[in-house]
Amino acid sequence: MVIGASGSGKTTFCLYLAGYFCRQGKRVAWIDADPGQSFIGPPAAFSLGLYSSAAELLKSKPPLIMGFIGNVSPVGHLLEAVTCVQKIYNKALELGPDLVLINTCGLVNGGAARELVYHQIDMLAPRYVIAIERKNEVEHLVSPHAHRAGLLIHRLPVSPDARVSTSEARKAAREQRFKEYFRGADFQDISLSDVGVHGPGLGTGERLGFRDINQLSKILSSIVVHAELSADRLFVITDGDYSEEEQYTARERYGVREISVITRSELDYLLIGLNDDRNLCLGLGIIRDIDLKELTMRVITPLNDVSAVRNIALGSLRVNPAGKELGQW
Ligand SMILES: Nc1ncnc2c1ncn2[C@@H]1O[C@H](COP(=O)(O)OP(=O)(O)OP(=O)(O)O)[C@@H](O)[C@H]1O
Ligand SMILES: [Mg+2]
Repeated sequence: MVIGASGSGKTTFCLYLAGYFCRQGKRVAWIDADPGQSFIGPPAAFSLGLYSSAAELLKSKPPLIMGFIGNVSPVGHLLEAVTCVQKIYNKALELGPDLVLINTCGLVNGGAARELVYHQIDMLAPRYVIAIERKNEVEHLVSPHAHRAGLLIHRLPVSPDARVSTSEARKAAREQRFKEYFRGADFQDISLSDVGVHGPGLGTGERLGFRDINQLSKILSSIVVHAELSADRLFVITDGDYSEEEQYTARERYGVREISVITRSELDYLLIGLNDDRNLCLGLGIIRDIDLKELTMRVITPLNDVSAVRNIALGSLRVNPAGKELGQW
């Protein structure tokens, strides 16, 4: 497992190591656990590649499997970042590789980085952690594991030739990868009765009727188009703005702990994971419409058969099929 700050040379080192092993006739499973500057699959997902020749490393091969993270940074999606890397690792082992290489993202500072790396190392129990650092940028991430059985921590200095790119350049690189991923994508309709949904609440509660919709519209000073009530949460979709202060009134009225309100425009262009029955990601999608009467979701996706989709995970980034990031919700 390779860790280091942005631009420290993690991907370059992984390429070097994978190439070295391939030239020895070994098979290398590469887990791309960087949802930002991804190397194998599209951004916002982790992916797995299997390589047996150095030449293959430079060709862009479609990932063998993917796990949907939901955003181009793991912040806000730490559980996905830990569970996906473990699920992909389990799949990688089934392929019987000689080496499993895990490339991580450049998030090294702050509580989220500490939690993420701590738990990823804990779950995966790697034999080697390669810490690439200029000075001591990742010491706080490896020191909690200093006494872990079976773990060897190698510290490598950052190459003097390594270049840190600007956040604009990183965004442009992500947008280019999204664009390539969605090239040739088409519309698909998915019936929400065929899938489970993981997100702010859609499909998790009892659908409220006309009378409640009217009442909620009044309380929230908005046009409520859909509402669901579950034991812990009221989930509401509005058409246009709503009164944020009155959310609490609505929550009290229905006697639930939480309320989650999302506008139709926040759902439009939302990036989603189209996942299979094991919740591995078959492909990314972009929401373009939710027909709340028929309970169908119209998405843009390069997947040309969505019949195996059993779970939809809503991300937190909006992106268009030309790759442009439209912001978070
Ligand atoms: N050992 C090296 N020799 C020459 N150039 C290097 C070396 N390591 C990194 N670079 C260059 O520095 C830049 C950043 O390297 P790389 O993309 O491997 O870093 P990274 O840690 O994966 O960054 P990110 O967190 O953005 O994914 C690249 O342009 C790469 O070619
Ligand atoms: Mg990288």
